[in-house]
Amino acid sequence: MEEAILRVFRGDSNGGEERIYRVPLKPGMVVLDAIHYIQAHYDADLAVRWNCKAARCGSCSAEVNGRPRLMCKTRLDEFRGTDVRVYPLKTFPLIKDLVTDVSWNYQVARQIPPFTHKEPEGKPFIVHQVDVERAQEFHKCIECFLCQNVCHVLRDHEGQSAYFGPRSMVKIASLEMHPKDVLDRTGLLREKGGIAYCNITKCCEDLCPEEIHITDNAIIPLKERVADKYYDPLRALLRSLAPSRRREEST
Ligand code: SF4
Ligand code: SF4
Ligand code: FES
Repeated sequence: MEEAILRVFRGDSNGGEERIYRVPLKPGMVVLDAIHYIQAHYDADLAVRWNCKAARCGSCSAEVNGRPRLMCKTRLDEFRGTDVRVYPLKTFPLIKDLVTDVSWNYQVARQIPPFTHKEPEGKPFIVHQVDVERAQEFHKCIECFLCQNVCHVLRDHEGQSAYFGPRSMVKIASLEMHPKDVLDRTGLLREKGGIAYCNITKCCEDLCPEEIHITDNAIIPLKERVADKYYDPLRALLRSLAPSRRREEST
């Protein structure tokens, strides 16, 4: 029977090693199937996080031959003729084997002010379909954090104290572009959010399993809002002349 050769990282924060496993290849098999085979037949203590096996929960993120991917969505027959290296996400602290501590992402999420709405007085608020669709794309996020993992600002350069990362930009965009939200999060984006560190390389967008246009539809429009607010004197003047349309500020 044809076999896949998996090179899986085994270890914890004190160090580790790559171990080689031979797994019988079956049609349609994904990397997560092979990891389960290893648990069942070789090493029951191999740590891996997963839930749905359907690319819905965002739990099984790992680096497969150097590329951040969902293990349950990555077919083994893609790698015929080559070994398959399965490593944990590099950007986050390692707990054990393929499991990393992604709790920083939830700490950032708690710093983002939630949806805030005030019903206008007098007339009903009309929401247009185009406005609904614009924010809808961002709600597809499954919080796999593959984009956070690949973002070079978080991974290699300025680090997690400088920038909230692409997943958080998607979250903020979903709120900022909601037609009924009244909060202005540009101050947060410019200061603690560190949006200026994103140089729109699109590495995050290229590997999002939900195909969210992270840079084109979320980060670039958010950058434009920040630029309008802080660096465009004409728009600042126009805003001051139309105070009723100003959003409440949040930093
Ligand atoms: S486009 Fe921005 S957020 Fe996405 S990976 Fe590049 S620097 Fe990070
Ligand atoms: S934006 Fe895409 S890559 Fe980033 S966490 Fe959400 S689903 Fe994953
Ligand atoms: S197990 Fe849920 S996304 Fe892979």
